[in-house]
Parts: sequence; C-alpha cells; structure tokens
Amino acid sequence: MSGIPAGVVTLQDYEAHAAQALDDGAWAYFSGGAGDEITLKDNRRAWDTLRLQARVLRPLAQGHTRSTLLGHTLAHPILLAPVAYQRMAHPDGELATAYAAAAQSAGLVLSTQASVSMEQVARAIVSDPGRGPLWFQLYLQPDRGVTQQLVRRAEAAGYEALVLTVDAPTSGARDRERRTGFKLPVGVRAVNLDGLPAQPPHQLEDGDSALFQGLLAQAPTWSDIEWLQGITRLPILLKGITHPDDAREALRCGVSAVMVSNHGGRTLDTLPATAHLLPAVADAVGSSLPLIVDGGIRRGTDVLKALALGARAVMIGRPYVHALATAGALGVAHVIRLLRDEFEIAMALTGCATLDQIGPHVLHLPAPR
Ligand code: FNR
Repeated sequence: MSGIPAGVVTLQDYEAHAAQALDDGAWAYFSGGAGDEITLKDNRRAWDTLRLQARVLRPLAQGHTRSTLLGHTLAHPILLAPVAYQRMAHPDGELATAYAAAAQSAGLVLSTQASVSMEQVARAIVSDPGRGPLWFQLYLQPDRGVTQQLVRRAEAAGYEALVLTVDAPTSGARDRERRTGFKLPVGVRAVNLDGLPAQPPHQLEDGDSALFQGLLAQAPTWSDIEWLQGITRLPILLKGITHPDDAREALRCGVSAVMVSNHGGRTLDTLPATAHLLPAVADAVGSSLPLIVDGGIRRGTDVLKALALGARAVMIGRPYVHALATAGALGVAHVIRLLRDEFEIAMALTGCATLDQIGPHVLHLPAPR
C-alpha cells in the first residue's frame, strides 16, 4: 500500500492498518513489550490520566513551537526515536523514515541496529536545510575498538550527537515475539555491524549464568561514559534514565542531555510509566540538563503534558513505524504533522503561545480534599 488510507486522522488509527500490513512475527516485534506488557500499557494510560487546564483570552498571534536543543533550532519538539530493523516494516526502511523526518523538520535518531547503513541515511538528508537534528543511537559493543569504529563512522557521516542507550544491556523477556517464533527475515539485518569482528562466545564454567557471566560479562558501566567522552567531540545523550540518582550521575559525568525512557515497555516490565518517572528526574536535574521523554506519546496533548512535566522534547517510536508499514515515507510524514498540529491546538487552548510558556500550570491537579 502506498497512499494514506481513508479515515486515518490520528496516530492510533495507523495501528490497525499496520497490523494488517505486517506478518505475525513482525507485528509482535514492532508492537510488543516485555513480560505482561504492563509498562507498555501504563505508558499510554499515564498520559491519558493527566488532565489539562484551559486558559482563555491570551494573546496567541505570535505563537510558534520553536526551541533550541544542543545548539540546534528545533521547529517543534517532536523527534523520531531509534527503532531497529525498519526494513521489516517497509522495503525503504530507515531511508523512508529519514526523508519524512527531514520533510517535517523532525529530529531523527538512527538505531545502531538500523537495517539501512548510517552513511546512506545521513547522505539522504544531511544537506537538507529544513531538517531537524540527526543523531546516532549507540549501543556500546563489547569490544571498544568496534564501538570506536561506529563512532568514527557516525562523525564522518554527519551525525550531530550520540544517543547512548543504557537501559538494555539485555533485552526484556519478550513473550509475544517468542510465541510467534519471531526471527528476522532474510535480508533484514543490522547492516551497520556488517564486517565488524564478532565477539567470541564467553567461556562459561559450571554454575555460571549465561546472562551474568555470558552476555553481561562486558556490559558497559559508568566508566565507559568517560571513555566515550574521551574519544569523541560529539555531544553524548543517555537514553533510558528512569531514576533521579542515575540522572544526577549523568549530570556529574557531563553528558549533554538525558532521555527519560523505559524503552517503550520492552525491557523491564512493571517499570512505571515515563509520565510518572519524569517529574522526579526533572526535580533532580531539570534545569541543568535537557530532558527528552518517550513512551506512549500518541497525542498532541501528551506532548504538552510532557513539556509541562519538565521535558524539552519528546520522541515517538511505534506510531511512526505503524505509519511506515502502512504508507511508507508519506505515512511517517503524516504522523509527525498530525502530532504537531494536535500539539499546536493543545498549546493554543491552554493559552501557551511558545514552549517557554508551558509549565506545570497547564496541568489540572485535583483540589486536595
Ligand atoms: C525500540 N527502541 C529502541 N531503542 C533504542 O535505543 N535502540 C533501538 O534499536 C530500539 N529499537 C526498538 C525497536 C522497536 C520495535 C521498538 C518499539 C522500540 C525503543 C524506542 O527508541 C523508544 O524508546 C520507544 O519506542 C518509545 O515508546 P513508544 O513511542 O513506542 O511507545
């Protein structure tokens, strides 16, 4: 399918179309979460539960959604989160997503596990004057030499920041995928890791855990952040911070921003919704460190609520993949435009002409009993 299907007017409308377009395994991969998917559901519900407060008769004629983040002007505060293996959703995969992001001036974070090479994606949009920020999401590899090669390639290709994902040293228990027997289809793979030396399997001894002494034996720690800072001049963002103390540690390490994220409910199930985690992180570091939040953001009102709770920008994951599966680049561009339009409406109706006028006062808090 190529056009936008009739009747699609919200991000959520794309979901049913994507379910039709994808096979069971791909659907389980893109839509599922960890365990009982409690965090996945909570992410959505938490934004829904917050109530907004309207304000009237405010001057709005000079209104706009611009801001600056890490020295880059954002036309609006909506970015596309890193999502792996997008060629499973559409033959053009991350390339279609990149064109759509650039056309809608949205920031793009490309996954380490992208199914199109980071050079090809960057080449497609890097010289577009209207594009948003272009960032590379990095998973630290067990071998520092391999990580360094990825960093050098990202720098050379024109990526403007590294988003280091720290909340997934192992995948969560993703039962939906296991039930469908999901496997990557032939021809879809993490091409950025092609040709890089594979890590020899760890020698386990009797009584060793395949997880702790195997996969996690060389998992990154805080000291790796310092190492990474030492090998690159690119700003580093940490993605997957949920505890105020981890946010303080990130600040102490001198990272440039933090993403409050529970990986869209795909890692630790029963971790609270990001709408509930964000306020404590904002209290801990909010004015010193820009915060970006993701997880369950589907409505312009959710974007407004996220900014009211202390975020400077938001990211969306599944909604744009659903649109990609349904209508390719056009669908992704449509999703960004829909969300931005809804956000502008929400700003106007809460009396906010600019992002710096958005604050906790736009939330309606129940009167104490
Ligand atoms: C992800 N996410 C993710 N994050 C990351 O840092 N690197 C990655 O490669 C991926 N891959 C990935 C695949 C799929 C299928 C999904 C759904 C998610 C997490 C992603 O960046 C983001 O945190 C969540 O998707 C945000 O939640 P919503 O908007 O999907 O609810």
